[in-house]
Amino acid sequence: MPNEATQSSDSSKTKRRAPPCTLVIFGAGGDLTKRLLMPALYNLSADGLLDDDMQVIGVNHGARETDEWRDDLTQSLRKFAADKASTFHTSKLNDDAWNRVARSLEYFAGEFDDDATYTRLKERLEKAKSGNVVFYLAVGARFFAPIAEHLGRAGLLEQKDGAFRRLVVEKPFGTDLASAKELNRCILAHADESQVYRIDHFLGKDTVQSILAVRFANAMFEPVWRREYIDHVQITAAETIGVEGRGSFYEHTGAFRDMVPNHLFQLLGMVAMEPPNSFDAESVRDKKAEVFDAMKPLSPDDVVLGQYDAGPAGPAYREEPGVAKDSRVETYAAARVYVDNWRWAGVPFYLRTGKRLAERCTEISVQLKAVPFRLFRDTPNDALTPNVYTLRIDPAHGTTFDFNVKKPGPLVEIGAVRSSFDYGDFFAASANVGYETLLYDCMLGDATLFQRADSIETAWAVVDRVLHPDGDLPVHGYAAGSAGPEAADALLAADGRAWRALNSPTDDADQHNEEGQKT
Ligand code: BG6
Repeated sequence: MPNEATQSSDSSKTKRRAPPCTLVIFGAGGDLTKRLLMPALYNLSADGLLDDDMQVIGVNHGARETDEWRDDLTQSLRKFAADKASTFHTSKLNDDAWNRVARSLEYFAGEFDDDATYTRLKERLEKAKSGNVVFYLAVGARFFAPIAEHLGRAGLLEQKDGAFRRLVVEKPFGTDLASAKELNRCILAHADESQVYRIDHFLGKDTVQSILAVRFANAMFEPVWRREYIDHVQITAAETIGVEGRGSFYEHTGAFRDMVPNHLFQLLGMVAMEPPNSFDAESVRDKKAEVFDAMKPLSPDDVVLGQYDAGPAGPAYREEPGVAKDSRVETYAAARVYVDNWRWAGVPFYLRTGKRLAERCTEISVQLKAVPFRLFRDTPNDALTPNVYTLRIDPAHGTTFDFNVKKPGPLVEIGAVRSSFDYGDFFAASANVGYETLLYDCMLGDATLFQRADSIETAWAVVDRVLHPDGDLPVHGYAAGSAGPEAADALLAADGRAWRALNSPTDDADQHNEEGQKT
């Protein structure tokens, strides 16, 4: 039941429209444009947050009429809106809102690595209604550096007469420290850091942005949010899907590079950062950078890799299209991370992510230490269920808190209970695809949710030894549909801890209880 008293105010009233600008999307024919950028633009338009004069130029190789591109995008949008499994699902599309976006679309044929494309683009942009331009690189990573270089050489990144030029770079930003440094070097040779918006789409999720609100808009969390009270933190991004036709991409990436130094580190950064002095981009990003700086470089002993074999959820990874029959690429990664600073010294952060796991679940679980004194005669402290505060990011949106109460009745018996909050009970659901805030913030020039060059490099530096080990790291098998490899359980068991259960039909139900304690 929505709680009327605490309903959020209409955010569009407090938000301002983005300034007029031209959004140039490289990769107009790609999946990202279709699935995420267009639905996000539609949502922004429906919220009245786009300028009426905004234009969208879609660059792609191959001749095509604008009308054809527009019709194609319109059809996709309708399909996603009708798809109940899509986060864009909505019973009714607002035609006016989409028409405003559709009218602004223009297809621009051009090869990404051809000088002529940029000469023509420059001429086109000189005729644009606004001098402000956001260049969005919705293309494969191999094109990031060449496009940035071409834009720079053509003078398209020069900011003149008060107009802005911004460059949005998608993930993956490099594949290790050396390649990330090289990409930063190449981009920053043509643009100032303040013009570069490096995307990590996890930061576009409301539930992720809310971590800072939970921590810093409430008085009850910060006093215990430190090594004196917290035993450990678990960060999970478990997926039930496999590589979904992206086998050949995944063969060059693997779960660790795909998820750990970016998405999972970003979540860790939000949980572990010190309070910023304000919510301006540099204050927040400085505090997050300090967390990455304090992370102890991972050693191979801190990491477990796995690959799914055939199991209840389907065939083995090695059977997927585009995957080598003897592939050693990991589809699962777990890591133990320490943040060596005053607040977190000695508190392990356990991270795990994987494909074809038992349950789709992205969450952060903060487990508190045991109470200091045995007060309940028949209940030793170590038999008490630990307090666990969980921020649920996907697919559930909310928080849970596990704590102890006295069971009803004449005996003094302690029972574990759970208090839950779900966003849907308080706030109206919106058909949000997670790119709305990122696009809007970029147009406004707010880089808070984007990654800075230094943080990207520090994160890669933390994992570099694991990416380039002296010998091969073992890749442990796990059944598709299970909770991951046993070696990952052993990583925590060695510290006297256990993962929170993923609800798996193949899991040994006795192995874990709900609170992640060994039974
Ligand atoms: C992407 C990864 O960055 O994030 C994918 O490349 C992964 O492999 C995806 O599936 C997970 O994002 P989300 O928002 O679906 O949890």
